[in-house]
Amino acid sequence: MEKTFLMVKPDGVQRNLIGEIMSRFERKGFKLAGAKLMPVPQGLAEEHYGEHKEKPFFGELVEFITSGPVFAMVWEGEDVIAAARQMMGATKPSEAAPGTIRGDFGMIVGKNVIHGSDSKESADREISLFFNDGELVDYQKDSLSWVY
Ligand code: TYD
Ligand code: MG
Repeated sequence: MEKTFLMVKPDGVQRNLIGEIMSRFERKGFKLAGAKLMPVPQGLAEEHYGEHKEKPFFGELVEFITSGPVFAMVWEGEDVIAAARQMMGATKPSEAAPGTIRGDFGMIVGKNVIHGSDSKESADREISLFFNDGELVDYQKDSLSWVY
C-alpha cells in the first residue's frame, strides 16, 4: 500500500496540534506506520528541503524547521499521498480551504503547521531521510470481537 511522510512542524508542536492532526488521519481511515517526536538537525533540514535551496525563503525555512521539535509520521493507505495533500490544504494558509489543516490552523506561509510529501518519489525519499526501516511497523488491523 502507498505510504507518505507527514510532519507536524515546530509551530504545530508548540500549539499542541499533534493530537488534532493525527486524529484527522486516523478518522479518515489511514493507517499509522511510524511516528516520533524529534529535533531536526541542520543537515537533515537542508537535505529535506533541498529542492528549495535556491529560493529566497530557504534560510528562514531551515531556521524554522530546526527551531524546535517536529512530529514525524508515516501514514499508509490508498492514494494517501494525494489525499493527505488535500487534507493539508494550500501552502499559503490564506488560500487554504476551511476544513483543511492549514485552512483551519495555519497563520502565515512560513508557519503552516504541517508538511506532506507531494509525490511518490518525495515520499520514498523523505521517509528514508527521517525513518530507519526498523522504525516502521507492518501490522494488520484485525476485526476484533470485543469492539462493538
Ligand atoms: P512548498 O514545497 O512550495 O510547499 P508545501 O509545503 O505545500 O509542499 O514549500 C515548502 C515550505 O516552504 C512551505 O510549506 C512553507 C515555506 N514557504 C515559504 O516560507 N514561503 C513561500 O513563499 C513558499 C512558497 C513556501
Ligand atoms: Mg513541498
